[in-house]
Order: sequence, then structure tokens, then C-alpha cells
Amino acid sequence: MSALVKFVDMHKSFGDLEILKGVTFSVERGEVVAIIGQSGSGKSTALRCMDRLETIQGGELWVCGHALHRDDVDLKALRRDVGIVFQSYNLFPHLTAEQNVALAPRLVASKSHAEASDIAQAVLSKVGLAEKRAAYPEQLSGGQQQRVAIARSLAMQPKLMLFDEVTSALDPKLTGEVLRVMERLAADGMTMILVTHEMQFARNVADRVVYMRDGRIHEMGGPEILIKPQTPELADFITHEQ
Ligand SMILES: Nc1ncnc2c1ncn2[C@@H]1O[C@H](COP(=O)(O)OP(=O)(O)OP(=O)(O)O)[C@@H](O)[C@H]1O
Ligand SMILES: [Mg+2]
Repeated sequence: MSALVKFVDMHKSFGDLEILKGVTFSVERGEVVAIIGQSGSGKSTALRCMDRLETIQGGELWVCGHALHRDDVDLKALRRDVGIVFQSYNLFPHLTAEQNVALAPRLVASKSHAEASDIAQAVLSKVGLAEKRAAYPEQLSGGQQQRVAIARSLAMQPKLMLFDEVTSALDPKLTGEVLRVMERLAADGMTMILVTHEMQFARNVADRVVYMRDGRIHEMGGPEILIKPQTPELADFITHEQ
């Protein structure tokens, strides 16, 4: 299987309420996919399913070779392969940037103190925060904290990165800093799926855009669909997003 992520008629419900109503699509290695759509259309739920933070009720979902529709998923192996970053950074306030980033390499990947520290410094450099390694979260801006959160995921050398509206809480200047880090990651060949409201970023960086509406993929295509949408619903959505 060459696709890194494969949804096959995937269904997800919360109780009686069906949220994802048959989602089918694949993501190839190295692809950058932007998921857009109205509030409540199921974007975050789809993303959370890919890290098995939610279980699915129907169809198939393959992520980095793990069959998430089966009960016997190796969650530890899955979470080593997949990094996920949310709008909230959730850094440990009593740990420095470097300690936050070094935590998983030490505890999950059993690296030595020195190895974990080297990894942390390398990924902090990658997100432009080499000089902030000794800073505590409260001494960092929102954009810097979000970049530490991205570095924390990168420290585990994931095969796939998932981003859920990681810039929504940031003002425009800080948003730009974070988007530039993501752009660099994409240029380095990282496979990325991002839920975003940043239409310009999606247009510039995504290989593919997925427009979700009411639990289904309503339109999907290259970034040009953001300029020339095929459905009136996407056209309407774009008009209101900008
Ligand atoms: N844990 C949950 N229990 C019950 N319903 C949920 C749960 N999580 C999400 N939902 C519902 O699923 C639907 C889709 O939510 P989701 O968070 O995936 O939307 P979204 O597209 O990410 O929206 P937004 O743009 O506002 O973030 C919503 O109607 C929401 O209320
Ligand atoms: Mg959401």
C-alpha cells in the first residue's frame, strides 16, 4: 500500500448521531492536504480519528500501515508514527521548551538524557527557537509556544503530521511565524494533513484541498478549486471565509 492514509467509506458516530457519513480518500507520502469546511462539518473529528483519539464505527481507516478499524491497533506504534498538534499548545508550564520537547524521546522512545537533549535542540532549531530552549512557556509568545508544540511532535520523527487549526488562537503576526514553520516542513517532504481557515496558506502550500460539508467530502481537488470551485457550496464557503 503506497498511500500513507486511506479512508474507505469511513463512518463515525457519537451515540446515535452520525458525524462522518462515509468518507473516502487517500493521502500519498509527501502530500500536503488541507481540510476546510464549515464549523461542525466534522474536520476535527476526521483528524482525531487518524490518531485513534476517536474510534470509528464503519468502513476502513489505514494510517501509516495501521488498521484503525480493527480492535487490535498498536496505539503506541501508531502514535510514534503520527504527530498531532492542536490549537491549544498544552505545554507543561514547569518545564522549559527543551524539557517539553525532550520528554517524549526520553519516556516513549527510551532515549538517554543526552540523546533526548540533542534531539530537542535539533528540532527547536528547525522551528526557529534554538535560542529559546531554556525559556518556560509563560516566557514565550503564543506563536513561540505553538512552535515548541510542533517541535515536540517532530522530536518523535513522525511519518505523518496532523494539524488542527494551529493558528486560530494567534494574532496575524504570530500566525505567519507558525505558518512559515509548516511551510518549511512541507518543503522538507513531510506528509501533512491540516485543518485550516487560512485559505491563502492552503492555496500556496497544499497539494490537495478537501472541502467537508455535513460529514462528507463535498469537493476535493488541487488548490485551484479555491479559485475555481466546482460546487456552489464551496464557492459560497470561500466567499464567506475571506
Ligand atoms: N465528543 C463528542 N461527542 C458528541 N458530539 C461531538 C463530539 N465531538 C464532536 N461532536 C460533534 O460532531 C460534529 C463535528 O464536530 P467537529 O469538531 O469535527 O467539527 P469541525 O468541523 O472541526 O468544526 P470547527 O470548525 O468548529 O472546529 C459537531 O456537531 C460536534 O458537536
Ligand atoms: Mg474543529
